[in-house]
Amino acid sequence: MENQASNTDPGNVNAEKMNMGKINIEKTNIKKRRPFTFFGGKGGTGKTTCATAYAAWLAHEGCKTLLVSTDPAHSLSDALGVALSDKILPVCENLWGIEIDAELEAKRYVGEIQDKMLSIVSPVIVDEIKRQMEIAYMSPGAEEAAIFDKFVELMEELGNPWEAIVFDTAPTGHTLRLLSLPEILGTWIESLIRKRRKSLDLFKMAGRFEEDLMKRAMEDPVIDSLTRRQKKFEKSRQYLTDSESSTFFFVLNAEKMPILETARAVEMLEKYGIPIGGVIVNRVIPPEAGEFFEERLIAQEEYLQDIERRFGDRKIVRLPLLRSDVRGMEQVNAVAERIGEIDA
Ligand SMILES: Nc1ncnc2c1ncn2[C@@H]1O[C@H](COP(=O)(O)OP(=O)(O)OP(=O)(O)O)[C@@H](O)[C@H]1O
Ligand SMILES: [Mg+2]
Repeated sequence: MENQASNTDPGNVNAEKMNMGKINIEKTNIKKRRPFTFFGGKGGTGKTTCATAYAAWLAHEGCKTLLVSTDPAHSLSDALGVALSDKILPVCENLWGIEIDAELEAKRYVGEIQDKMLSIVSPVIVDEIKRQMEIAYMSPGAEEAAIFDKFVELMEELGNPWEAIVFDTAPTGHTLRLLSLPEILGTWIESLIRKRRKSLDLFKMAGRFEEDLMKRAMEDPVIDSLTRRQKKFEKSRQYLTDSESSTFFFVLNAEKMPILETARAVEMLEKYGIPIGGVIVNRVIPPEAGEFFEERLIAQEEYLQDIERRFGDRKIVRLPLLRSDVRGMEQVNAVAERIGEIDA
């Protein structure tokens, strides 16, 4: 990812042609912005909309911002009305976007390990290694691990040139698994390293009188790869659990299921030590919505009170239901005008 900034110069983009529109608020003094902001929550509640609007707001504030989707079912392009890909692309002034391609990242990751393994093993077991790698690639979690790798890589790019990275995540279950990876895989990798060291000791004993064998044992690429991965996880865990670096916002609607799911997810993230910025109640029906919504408004009021009771010790931001879907920069900006509140 070297020199991303010059390859992705937003000066190349004709903002006028892309109809980027304007955010009609004065620039504010961002007080509580963190470098990494995650938006998560139940399916369809408005995660992509909020992540996109928040990133647009930061860009408006003059903050160089990278908007990242870790959801395999990407929809940043739809929300922005700008085609994105698995490469970082400029969107408008101060804003870049990328949709991580999990399948591609998983293939690349497993492929790299396979190449390293094949370079040290005897030709007799090449087919066996290939078969094992195929299984590793198909195994549950491989794509998540690969997405995680990619987002750690992006986090490490902070300041070069991005000052903030905003993550649009997949629905709750997937994201929780993703965020718990450093904790779970960290221990697993440790045990793998220990096992590998043991077998290497045997290898070294066998190769005591053979220089080539000894050399191969000393420069073991498997340990090398595992150790690097372990360090990456450790670093990302530090980022994710540091309240000065990261913050996680839950997007929910004033309905029963999203409230219950959010309550469970908040508990999980707290367990992993991930700082929670607050909750965004999206699609709040405005009181002037009319007679047709009367009953819904009564139910909504109860759910809003429930949200206050459950999450009242955190920041709660309400976003109104708009007349149409949030598609394209103009509508994203309309949400952006309100979402800056999460930093207030
Ligand atoms: N406040 C709002 N008013 C009107 N429409 C909205 C609002 N917020 C989001 N939408 C629309 O609702 C739909 C779902 O929103 P969005 O894609 O942001 O949800 P999501 O949580 O990212 O969904 P998924 O779980 O599928 O990723 C989109 O069509 C979006 O334009
Ligand atoms: Mg989404």
